[in-house]
Amino acid sequence: MNYEQAYKKMCDIGQEHVFKYYDELSDEGKAALVKQVEETDFSVLKRIGSGADETRGSFSPLAAMQLPEIERRRDELYAAGVKAIREGKTAAMLLAGGMGTRLGSDNPKGMFDIGLNRHVYIFERIITNLLDVVKETNTWIRLFIMTSEKNHDATVKFLTEKGFFGYKQEMVVFFKQDMAPACDFNGKLYMEAKDRISTSPNGNAGWYSSMVRAGLDKILVNEGIEWIDVFAVDNVLQRICDPCFVGATVLADVSVGAKVVKKAAPDEKVGVMCLEDGRPSIVEYYELSEDMMNAKDEKGEPAYNYGVILNYLFRTSELASVTDDRMPLHIVKKKIPCLDENGDPVKPAEPNGYKFEQLVLDMIHQLSTCLPYEVVREKEFAPIKNPTGIDSVESARELCKLNGIEL
Ligand code: UTP
Repeated sequence: MNYEQAYKKMCDIGQEHVFKYYDELSDEGKAALVKQVEETDFSVLKRIGSGADETRGSFSPLAAMQLPEIERRRDELYAAGVKAIREGKTAAMLLAGGMGTRLGSDNPKGMFDIGLNRHVYIFERIITNLLDVVKETNTWIRLFIMTSEKNHDATVKFLTEKGFFGYKQEMVVFFKQDMAPACDFNGKLYMEAKDRISTSPNGNAGWYSSMVRAGLDKILVNEGIEWIDVFAVDNVLQRICDPCFVGATVLADVSVGAKVVKKAAPDEKVGVMCLEDGRPSIVEYYELSEDMMNAKDEKGEPAYNYGVILNYLFRTSELASVTDDRMPLHIVKKKIPCLDENGDPVKPAEPNGYKFEQLVLDMIHQLSTCLPYEVVREKEFAPIKNPTGIDSVESARELCKLNGIEL
Protein backbone atom coordinates (compact mmCIF):
# COMPACT_ATOMS: atom_id res chain seq x y z
CA MET A 1 0.00 0.00 0.00
CA ASN A 2 1.35 3.48 -0.86
CA TYR A 3 0.49 6.81 0.77
CA GLU A 4 -2.30 7.64 -1.72
CA GLN A 5 -3.97 4.28 -1.11
CA ALA A 6 -3.59 4.58 2.65
CA TYR A 7 -5.00 8.12 2.58
CA LYS A 8 -7.98 6.93 0.54
CA LYS A 9 -8.58 4.03 2.94
CA MET A 10 -8.81 6.49 5.82
CA CYS A 11 -10.88 9.08 3.88
CA ASP A 12 -13.40 6.34 3.07
CA ILE A 13 -14.02 5.82 6.78
CA GLY A 14 -13.77 9.50 7.76
CA GLN A 15 -10.44 9.11 9.58
CA GLU A 16 -8.04 11.09 7.33
CA HIS A 17 -6.95 13.16 10.37
CA VAL A 18 -4.48 10.35 11.14
CA PHE A 19 -2.30 11.90 8.41
CA LYS A 20 -2.38 15.38 10.02
CA TYR A 21 1.34 15.33 10.80
CA TYR A 22 2.40 13.25 7.78
CA ASP A 23 4.41 16.01 6.10
CA GLU A 24 6.51 16.52 9.27
CA LEU A 25 7.47 12.84 9.54
CA SER A 26 10.78 11.23 8.63
CA ASP A 27 10.76 8.71 5.79
CA GLU A 28 10.65 5.88 8.37
CA GLY A 29 7.76 7.55 10.19
CA LYS A 30 5.82 7.96 6.95
CA ALA A 31 6.40 4.33 6.00
CA ALA A 32 5.44 3.12 9.49
CA LEU A 33 2.14 5.01 9.47
CA VAL A 34 1.19 3.78 5.99
CA LYS A 35 2.05 0.23 7.04
CA GLN A 36 -0.06 0.51 10.19
CA VAL A 37 -3.01 1.79 8.14
CA GLU A 38 -2.56 -1.11 5.75
CA GLU A 39 -2.37 -3.77 8.47
CA THR A 40 -5.02 -2.56 10.90
CA ASP A 41 -8.59 -3.81 10.83
CA PHE A 42 -10.71 -0.69 11.36
CA SER A 43 -14.04 -2.48 10.94
CA VAL A 44 -14.45 -2.49 14.75
CA LEU A 45 -15.18 1.26 14.63
CA LYS A 46 -18.46 0.57 12.85
CA ARG A 47 -19.69 -1.45 15.82
CA ILE A 48 -19.87 1.56 18.18
CA GLY A 49 -23.48 2.11 19.20
CA SER A 50 -24.76 -0.73 17.00
CA GLY A 51 -25.92 -2.75 20.02
CA ALA A 52 -25.45 -5.83 17.84
CA ASP A 53 -23.67 -7.77 20.56
CA GLU A 54 -26.18 -7.22 23.32
CA THR A 55 -28.84 -9.81 22.50
CA ARG A 56 -28.63 -12.83 24.78
CA GLY A 57 -30.34 -16.19 24.58
CA SER A 58 -32.36 -17.99 27.19
CA PHE A 59 -30.52 -18.83 30.41
CA SER A 60 -30.76 -22.00 32.51
CA PRO A 61 -28.57 -23.31 35.38
CA LEU A 62 -25.40 -25.34 34.85
CA ALA A 63 -24.44 -27.47 37.87
CA ALA A 64 -20.90 -27.13 39.19
CA MET A 65 -18.72 -29.92 40.59
CA GLN A 66 -18.73 -28.75 44.20
CA LEU A 67 -16.21 -29.14 47.01
CA PRO A 68 -17.85 -32.14 48.76
CA GLU A 69 -17.83 -34.17 45.54
CA ILE A 70 -14.24 -33.11 44.79
CA GLU A 71 -13.23 -34.18 48.29
CA ARG A 72 -15.02 -37.51 47.98
CA ARG A 73 -13.42 -38.27 44.61
CA ARG A 74 -10.06 -36.64 45.36
CA ASP A 75 -7.89 -39.76 44.79
CA GLU A 76 -9.57 -40.60 41.51
CA LEU A 77 -9.41 -37.01 40.17
CA TYR A 78 -5.83 -36.57 41.33
CA ALA A 79 -4.65 -39.79 39.67
CA ALA A 80 -6.31 -38.89 36.35
CA GLY A 81 -4.78 -35.41 36.46
CA VAL A 82 -1.28 -36.60 37.30
CA LYS A 83 -1.50 -39.14 34.48
CA ALA A 84 -2.45 -36.46 31.92
CA ILE A 85 0.31 -34.15 33.16
CA ARG A 86 2.98 -36.88 33.17
CA GLU A 87 1.98 -37.87 29.64
CA GLY A 88 2.71 -34.26 28.60
CA LYS A 89 -0.89 -33.64 27.62
CA THR A 90 -1.26 -30.42 29.61
CA ALA A 91 0.12 -26.92 28.96
CA ALA A 92 -0.32 -23.54 30.66
CA MET A 93 -1.19 -20.23 28.98
CA LEU A 94 -0.44 -17.06 30.91
CA LEU A 95 -2.49 -14.12 29.64
CA ALA A 96 -0.19 -11.18 30.19
CA GLY A 97 -1.10 -8.92 27.26
CA GLY A 98 -3.35 -6.58 29.24
CA MET A 99 -2.46 -2.97 29.98
CA GLY A 100 -3.26 -3.09 33.70
CA THR A 101 -4.55 0.47 33.53
CA ARG A 102 -6.45 0.25 36.81
CA LEU A 103 -3.30 -0.71 38.68
CA GLY A 104 -1.64 2.28 37.09
CA SER A 105 1.94 1.03 36.79
CA ASP A 106 3.89 1.68 33.58
CA ASN A 107 5.48 -1.76 33.77
CA PRO A 108 3.77 -5.04 32.82
CA LYS A 109 1.44 -6.07 35.66
CA GLY A 110 3.45 -9.22 36.35
CA MET A 111 6.45 -7.07 37.32
CA PHE A 112 4.50 -5.49 40.15
CA ASP A 113 6.09 -6.20 43.53
CA ILE A 114 3.55 -7.09 46.24
CA GLY A 115 6.27 -7.83 48.79
CA LEU A 116 6.53 -5.95 52.08
CA ASN A 117 9.78 -7.17 53.64
CA ARG A 118 11.13 -8.83 50.52
CA HIS A 119 10.47 -8.76 46.78
CA VAL A 120 7.47 -10.83 45.73
CA TYR A 121 6.63 -10.12 42.10
CA ILE A 122 3.29 -11.12 40.61
CA PHE A 123 5.07 -13.20 37.94
CA GLU A 124 7.04 -14.89 40.70
CA ARG A 125 3.87 -15.91 42.56
CA ILE A 126 2.34 -17.34 39.38
CA ILE A 127 5.46 -19.29 38.42
CA THR A 128 5.93 -20.55 41.98
CA ASN A 129 2.38 -21.93 41.89
CA LEU A 130 3.02 -23.72 38.61
CA LEU A 131 6.37 -25.01 39.91
CA ASP A 132 4.49 -26.71 42.77
CA VAL A 133 2.79 -28.93 40.19
CA VAL A 134 6.03 -29.47 38.27
CA LYS A 135 7.68 -30.72 41.47
CA GLU A 136 4.69 -32.76 42.57
CA THR A 137 4.41 -34.58 39.23
CA ASN A 138 8.11 -34.46 38.37
CA THR A 139 7.15 -33.15 34.92
CA TRP A 140 7.92 -29.85 33.21
CA ILE A 141 4.78 -28.23 31.82
CA ARG A 142 4.94 -26.20 28.60
CA LEU A 143 4.28 -22.56 29.54
CA PHE A 144 3.05 -20.09 26.91
CA ILE A 145 3.16 -16.42 27.80
CA MET A 146 1.05 -13.99 25.79
CA THR A 147 2.28 -10.41 25.82
CA SER A 148 1.39 -7.46 23.59
CA GLU A 149 3.62 -5.14 21.59
CA LYS A 150 3.23 -2.66 24.47
CA ASN A 151 4.79 -4.87 27.13
CA HIS A 152 6.59 -7.68 25.32
CA ASP A 153 10.19 -6.46 25.57
CA ALA A 154 9.87 -5.44 29.22
CA THR A 155 8.27 -8.80 30.10
CA VAL A 156 10.92 -10.91 28.35
CA LYS A 157 13.74 -8.81 29.81
CA PHE A 158 12.39 -9.02 33.33
CA LEU A 159 11.77 -12.77 33.33
CA THR A 160 15.14 -13.43 31.72
CA GLU A 161 16.92 -11.30 34.33
CA LYS A 162 15.09 -13.14 37.09
CA GLY A 163 16.03 -16.54 35.67
CA PHE A 164 12.33 -17.25 35.05
CA PHE A 165 12.01 -17.60 38.82
CA GLY A 166 13.33 -21.15 38.56
CA TYR A 167 11.22 -22.26 35.61
CA LYS A 168 13.02 -24.15 32.86
CA GLN A 169 13.55 -21.52 30.17
CA GLU A 170 13.27 -23.96 27.25
CA MET A 171 9.73 -24.75 28.37
CA VAL A 172 8.63 -21.11 28.05
CA VAL A 173 7.30 -19.71 24.75
CA PHE A 174 6.38 -16.04 24.35
CA PHE A 175 4.12 -14.58 21.70
CA LYS A 176 2.50 -11.20 21.10
CA GLN A 177 -1.23 -10.78 20.81
CA ASP A 178 -2.85 -8.74 18.06
CA MET A 179 -3.80 -5.09 18.52
CA ALA A 180 -7.01 -3.16 17.82
CA PRO A 181 -7.32 0.60 17.15
CA ALA A 182 -8.60 2.91 19.89
CA CYS A 183 -10.81 5.97 19.41
CA ASP A 184 -12.57 8.80 21.22
CA PHE A 185 -16.23 8.64 22.24
CA ASN A 186 -17.25 9.85 18.76
CA GLY A 187 -15.37 7.07 17.02
CA LYS A 188 -12.44 9.27 15.88
CA LEU A 189 -9.16 7.42 16.02
CA TYR A 190 -6.62 8.64 18.53
CA MET A 191 -2.95 9.03 17.63
CA GLU A 192 -0.39 7.87 20.19
CA ALA A 193 2.41 9.54 18.24
CA LYS A 194 2.52 11.61 15.09
CA ASP A 195 3.38 8.50 13.11
CA ARG A 196 1.23 6.02 15.01
CA ILE A 197 -2.49 5.46 15.55
CA SER A 198 -3.38 4.53 19.16
CA THR A 199 -3.87 0.82 19.58
CA SER A 200 -4.55 -1.51 22.45
CA PRO A 201 -4.41 -5.29 22.84
CA ASN A 202 -7.49 -6.88 21.28
CA GLY A 203 -8.72 -8.57 24.47
CA ASN A 204 -7.77 -11.77 26.22
CA ALA A 205 -9.72 -13.97 23.79
CA GLY A 206 -7.01 -12.97 21.32
CA TRP A 207 -4.82 -15.71 22.79
CA TYR A 208 -5.87 -18.50 20.47
CA SER A 209 -5.94 -16.65 17.14
CA SER A 210 -2.70 -14.81 18.00
CA MET A 211 -1.09 -18.10 18.96
CA VAL A 212 -2.11 -19.66 15.66
CA ARG A 213 -0.87 -16.62 13.72
CA ALA A 214 2.48 -17.03 15.48
CA GLY A 215 2.55 -20.66 14.26
CA LEU A 216 2.57 -22.01 17.81
CA ASP A 217 -0.38 -24.33 17.42
CA LYS A 218 2.25 -26.65 15.86
CA ILE A 219 3.71 -27.07 19.34
CA LEU A 220 0.35 -28.32 20.57
CA VAL A 221 0.24 -30.90 17.79
CA ASN A 222 3.92 -31.91 17.90
CA GLU A 223 3.96 -32.33 21.66
CA GLY A 224 0.56 -34.01 21.91
CA ILE A 225 -0.85 -31.27 24.16
CA GLU A 226 -4.55 -32.02 24.65
CA TRP A 227 -5.40 -29.54 27.41
CA ILE A 228 -4.35 -25.96 27.97
CA ASP A 229 -4.93 -24.10 31.23
CA VAL A 230 -5.56 -20.46 30.34
CA PHE A 231 -5.26 -18.04 33.25
CA ALA A 232 -4.92 -14.36 34.14
CA VAL A 233 -1.69 -12.79 35.28
CA ASP A 234 -3.24 -11.05 38.24
CA ASN A 235 -4.61 -13.80 40.51
CA VAL A 236 -1.62 -14.44 42.73
CA LEU A 237 -3.11 -17.44 44.55
CA GLN A 238 -4.50 -19.52 41.72
CA ARG A 239 -3.33 -23.07 41.15
CA ILE A 240 -2.41 -23.79 37.55
CA CYS A 241 -2.68 -27.24 35.94
CA ASP A 242 -3.39 -28.62 39.40
CA PRO A 243 -3.97 -32.36 39.11
CA CYS A 244 -7.51 -32.53 40.58
CA PHE A 245 -8.81 -29.83 38.24
CA VAL A 246 -7.12 -31.44 35.26
CA GLY A 247 -8.38 -34.89 36.30
CA ALA A 248 -11.96 -33.70 36.85
CA THR A 249 -12.06 -32.05 33.42
CA VAL A 250 -10.50 -35.04 31.65
CA LEU A 251 -12.83 -37.53 33.34
CA ALA A 252 -15.91 -35.37 32.68
CA ASP A 253 -14.87 -35.51 29.01
CA VAL A 254 -15.98 -31.91 28.40
CA SER A 255 -14.74 -29.24 25.98
CA VAL A 256 -13.57 -27.00 28.80
CA GLY A 257 -13.23 -26.96 32.60
CA ALA A 258 -13.80 -23.64 34.37
CA LYS A 259 -12.65 -22.85 37.88
CA VAL A 260 -15.44 -21.20 39.83
CA VAL A 261 -15.97 -19.86 43.33
CA LYS A 262 -19.20 -19.74 45.31
CA LYS A 263 -20.67 -16.25 45.16
CA ALA A 264 -20.15 -14.22 48.31
CA ALA A 265 -23.64 -12.66 48.01
CA PRO A 266 -26.55 -13.08 45.55
CA ASP A 267 -25.78 -9.69 43.99
CA GLU A 268 -21.99 -10.04 43.92
CA LYS A 269 -20.49 -8.47 40.80
CA VAL A 270 -19.12 -11.58 39.14
CA GLY A 271 -20.00 -13.40 35.93
CA VAL A 272 -21.82 -16.64 36.76
CA MET A 273 -21.64 -19.97 34.90
CA CYS A 274 -24.87 -21.07 33.26
CA LEU A 275 -26.32 -22.48 30.07
CA GLU A 276 -27.47 -20.07 27.38
CA ASP A 277 -29.70 -21.70 24.77
CA GLY A 278 -28.37 -25.02 26.02
CA ARG A 279 -24.66 -24.16 25.60
CA PRO A 280 -22.28 -23.23 28.39
CA SER A 281 -22.06 -19.51 28.98
CA ILE A 282 -21.46 -16.79 31.53
CA VAL A 283 -24.18 -14.44 32.63
CA GLU A 284 -22.99 -11.08 33.94
CA TYR A 285 -24.21 -9.92 37.35
CA TYR A 286 -26.23 -7.07 35.81
CA GLU A 287 -28.00 -9.53 33.48
CA LEU A 288 -29.31 -11.68 36.36
CA SER A 289 -33.07 -11.27 36.59
CA GLU A 290 -34.90 -11.37 39.94
CA ASP A 291 -36.15 -14.88 39.04
CA MET A 292 -32.63 -16.09 38.30
CA MET A 293 -31.35 -14.66 41.58
CA ASN A 294 -34.08 -16.53 43.48
CA ALA A 295 -33.90 -19.79 41.50
CA LYS A 296 -32.82 -22.87 43.51
CA ASP A 297 -31.20 -26.17 42.52
CA GLU A 298 -32.43 -29.58 43.70
CA LYS A 299 -30.56 -29.16 47.00
CA GLY A 300 -32.28 -25.85 47.63
CA GLU A 301 -29.09 -23.86 46.95
CA PRO A 302 -29.09 -20.84 44.60
CA ALA A 303 -29.04 -22.19 41.04
CA TYR A 304 -26.78 -19.42 39.67
CA ASN A 305 -24.20 -19.45 42.39
CA TYR A 306 -20.74 -19.99 40.89
CA GLY A 307 -18.64 -17.15 39.55
CA VAL A 308 -15.76 -17.57 37.10
CA ILE A 309 -12.21 -16.57 38.04
CA LEU A 310 -10.55 -16.60 34.60
CA ASN A 311 -8.92 -19.99 34.86
CA TYR A 312 -10.09 -22.40 32.17
CA LEU A 313 -8.80 -25.74 30.94
CA PHE A 314 -9.53 -25.92 27.21
CA ARG A 315 -9.51 -29.12 25.18
CA THR A 316 -7.14 -28.14 22.38
CA SER A 317 -8.82 -30.21 19.65
CA GLU A 318 -11.95 -28.06 19.92
CA LEU A 319 -10.26 -24.67 19.75
CA ALA A 320 -10.19 -24.52 15.96
CA SER A 321 -14.00 -24.31 16.02
CA VAL A 322 -13.87 -21.10 18.08
CA THR A 323 -13.62 -18.26 15.60
CA ASP A 324 -13.22 -14.58 16.41
CA ASP A 325 -15.96 -13.37 14.08
CA ARG A 326 -18.64 -15.33 15.95
CA MET A 327 -17.70 -13.82 19.30
CA PRO A 328 -19.11 -10.56 20.65
CA LEU A 329 -16.95 -7.48 20.54
CA HIS A 330 -16.79 -5.57 23.82
CA ILE A 331 -16.50 -1.82 23.46
CA VAL A 332 -14.93 -0.61 26.67
CA LYS A 333 -14.38 2.89 28.04
CA LYS A 334 -10.70 3.25 28.93
CA LYS A 335 -7.94 5.78 29.47
CA ILE A 336 -6.16 5.99 26.13
CA PRO A 337 -2.81 7.79 25.86
CA CYS A 338 -3.03 10.15 22.89
CA LEU A 339 -1.88 13.44 21.35
CA ASP A 340 -3.63 16.64 22.34
CA GLU A 341 -4.65 19.30 19.83
CA ASN A 342 -1.09 20.67 19.82
CA GLY A 343 0.36 17.26 19.02
CA ASP A 344 1.77 16.75 22.52
CA PRO A 345 1.40 13.35 24.19
CA VAL A 346 -1.06 13.16 27.11
CA LYS A 347 -1.93 10.44 29.60
CA PRO A 348 -5.57 10.97 30.56
CA ALA A 349 -6.62 10.66 34.20
CA GLU A 350 -10.16 9.59 33.25
CA PRO A 351 -11.48 7.33 30.49
CA ASN A 352 -11.39 9.30 27.24
CA GLY A 353 -12.45 6.79 24.63
CA TYR A 354 -13.12 3.23 23.52
CA LYS A 355 -11.03 0.11 23.19
CA PHE A 356 -12.28 -3.00 21.42
CA GLU A 357 -11.86 -6.38 23.06
CA GLN A 358 -12.95 -9.95 22.72
CA LEU A 359 -13.05 -11.84 26.00
CA VAL A 360 -11.99 -15.33 26.85
CA LEU A 361 -15.26 -15.92 28.68
CA ASP A 362 -17.10 -15.60 25.36
CA MET A 363 -15.05 -18.51 24.03
CA ILE A 364 -16.89 -20.76 26.46
CA HIS A 365 -20.20 -20.22 24.68
CA GLN A 366 -18.63 -21.40 21.43
CA LEU A 367 -17.96 -24.81 22.96
CA SER A 368 -20.49 -27.55 23.53
CA THR A 369 -19.78 -28.67 27.11
CA CYS A 370 -18.20 -27.20 30.23
CA LEU A 371 -17.48 -28.42 33.75
CA PRO A 372 -17.60 -25.64 36.35
CA TYR A 373 -15.18 -26.82 39.07
CA GLU A 374 -15.41 -25.23 42.52
CA VAL A 375 -12.31 -23.96 44.30
CA VAL A 376 -12.08 -22.35 47.73
CA ARG A 377 -12.21 -18.61 47.23
CA GLU A 378 -9.85 -17.69 50.08
CA LYS A 379 -7.29 -20.18 48.85
CA GLU A 380 -7.38 -19.53 45.13
CA PHE A 381 -8.79 -16.14 44.31
CA ALA A 382 -6.70 -13.06 44.98
CA PRO A 383 -6.94 -10.91 41.85
CA ILE A 384 -5.02 -7.65 41.67
CA LYS A 385 -6.88 -5.10 39.60
CA ASN A 386 -6.56 -1.92 41.69
CA PRO A 387 -3.96 -0.42 44.04
CA THR A 388 -6.39 -0.37 46.99
CA GLY A 389 -9.90 -1.56 47.90
CA ILE A 390 -11.67 -4.48 46.23
CA ASP A 391 -9.48 -6.85 44.16
CA SER A 392 -6.39 -4.87 44.99
CA VAL A 393 -2.79 -5.15 46.06
CA GLU A 394 -4.05 -4.69 49.63
CA SER A 395 -6.70 -7.42 49.50
CA ALA A 396 -4.32 -9.83 47.74
CA ARG A 397 -1.68 -9.23 50.42
CA GLU A 398 -4.20 -10.13 53.12
CA LEU A 399 -5.14 -13.33 51.31
CA CYS A 400 -1.47 -14.24 50.76
CA LYS A 401 -0.86 -13.85 54.49
CA LEU A 402 -3.90 -16.03 55.26
CA ASN A 403 -2.32 -18.73 53.09
CA GLY A 404 1.02 -18.52 54.83
CA ILE A 405 2.84 -16.74 52.01
CA GLU A 406 5.53 -14.44 53.38
CA LEU A 407 5.62 -11.01 51.83
P1 UTP B 1 -8.23 -7.41 32.71
O1 UTP B 1 -9.59 -7.52 32.16
O2 UTP B 1 -8.10 -7.26 34.17
O3 UTP B 1 -7.49 -6.23 31.95
O4 UTP B 1 -7.40 -8.66 32.22
P2 UTP B 1 -6.07 -5.55 32.20
O5 UTP B 1 -5.71 -4.95 30.88
O6 UTP B 1 -5.06 -6.47 32.79
O7 UTP B 1 -6.34 -4.42 33.26
P3 UTP B 1 -7.13 -3.04 33.17
O8 UTP B 1 -8.57 -3.40 32.85
O9 UTP B 1 -6.49 -2.22 32.08
O10 UTP B 1 -6.95 -2.45 34.52
C1 UTP B 1 -7.58 -9.96 32.72
C2 UTP B 1 -6.43 -10.79 32.19
O11 UTP B 1 -6.45 -10.82 30.76
C3 UTP B 1 -5.20 -10.35 30.26
C4 UTP B 1 -4.62 -9.51 31.36
O12 UTP B 1 -3.20 -9.41 31.20
C5 UTP B 1 -5.05 -10.29 32.58
O13 UTP B 1 -4.23 -11.40 32.78
N1 UTP B 1 -5.42 -9.59 29.02
C6 UTP B 1 -6.36 -8.60 28.98
C7 UTP B 1 -4.68 -9.91 27.91
O14 UTP B 1 -3.80 -10.80 27.95
N2 UTP B 1 -4.92 -9.21 26.77
C8 UTP B 1 -5.84 -8.24 26.68
O15 UTP B 1 -6.02 -7.65 25.59
C9 UTP B 1 -6.59 -7.92 27.82
